[in-house]
Amino acid sequence: MIHGFIQITDTHIVAPGTLVSGHSDTAQALRRAVETINAKLPLWEGIDCAIVTGDLTDHGTPEEYAHFLSIMDDLALPWIAIPGNHDQRAPMRAALSDAPWMPSTGPVHWVRDFGAFSVIGLDTLLEGAHHGMLCEEGMDFLDTTLTAIGDQPAIVATHHPFMHAGLPAMDADNLRNGAAMIARLGAHRGPVRMLSGHVHRAVTGQIGRVTCQIAPATCHAVLTDHRTGSAPQLVLEPGAVTVHRWLDQPGAGLVSEVIPTGLFPGPWPFEA
Ligand SMILES: [Fe+2]
Ligand SMILES: [Fe+2]
Repeated sequence: MIHGFIQITDTHIVAPGTLVSGHSDTAQALRRAVETINAKLPLWEGIDCAIVTGDLTDHGTPEEYAHFLSIMDDLALPWIAIPGNHDQRAPMRAALSDAPWMPSTGPVHWVRDFGAFSVIGLDTLLEGAHHGMLCEEGMDFLDTTLTAIGDQPAIVATHHPFMHAGLPAMDADNLRNGAAMIARLGAHRGPVRMLSGHVHRAVTGQIGRVTCQIAPATCHAVLTDHRTGSAPQLVLEPGAVTVHRWLDQPGAGLVSEVIPTGLFPGPWPFEA
């Protein structure tokens, strides 16, 4: 039986009627993502939930979380989330206090058992900073959870990636203290993967035996500028979500598809 989830990241919702940086209609982008997922779900087998990997809002205000929830209400899937650097824990916790995965205090760490694998959500938000830090409690949570799941495949979800994407303006603000986390993941008895957001584009790398994958945002992308010293700039490339499914077959495992959001011409049979 196939199990999987949809990764939604960096939705950056602001107050109704406003644009991020004067250009990006993030609410419209999230509505488009929700409509895309709902339309395609009948074609996708085994999707249990969505996982939102941070930057739900742009400033972490109660009004922004209310706006985020009003759009996500239309999603035909349950969802869980971790915060990003643009979130604020107290307003996020208040807005989601009814969610069974939301702890009543402290960082927002959780684990979700999908049967074929587990996803461990780790909160890397350091309030007041854009870069990420994994607190001691988070490292302990990871260690305890990996020990408990034995040789089951482990997928760690964070907002901030530890891998460098080769975009100096973004790499400066990644997860600064992830080496111990990667080492602990590398020592896990089962397959491992790290999924993140924050960089607003699809990038994949490898650190030791840990495949590291960064998912594209639903809204604006960050310009692919590889020059040292360049400032980050946004571009209105198509938004996307990432479908992760566990295929229990040789040559498979966790298979991840980046799906652009929106409606496109087709489908048509190969042979007309
Ligand atoms: Fe972001
Ligand atoms: Fe971020």
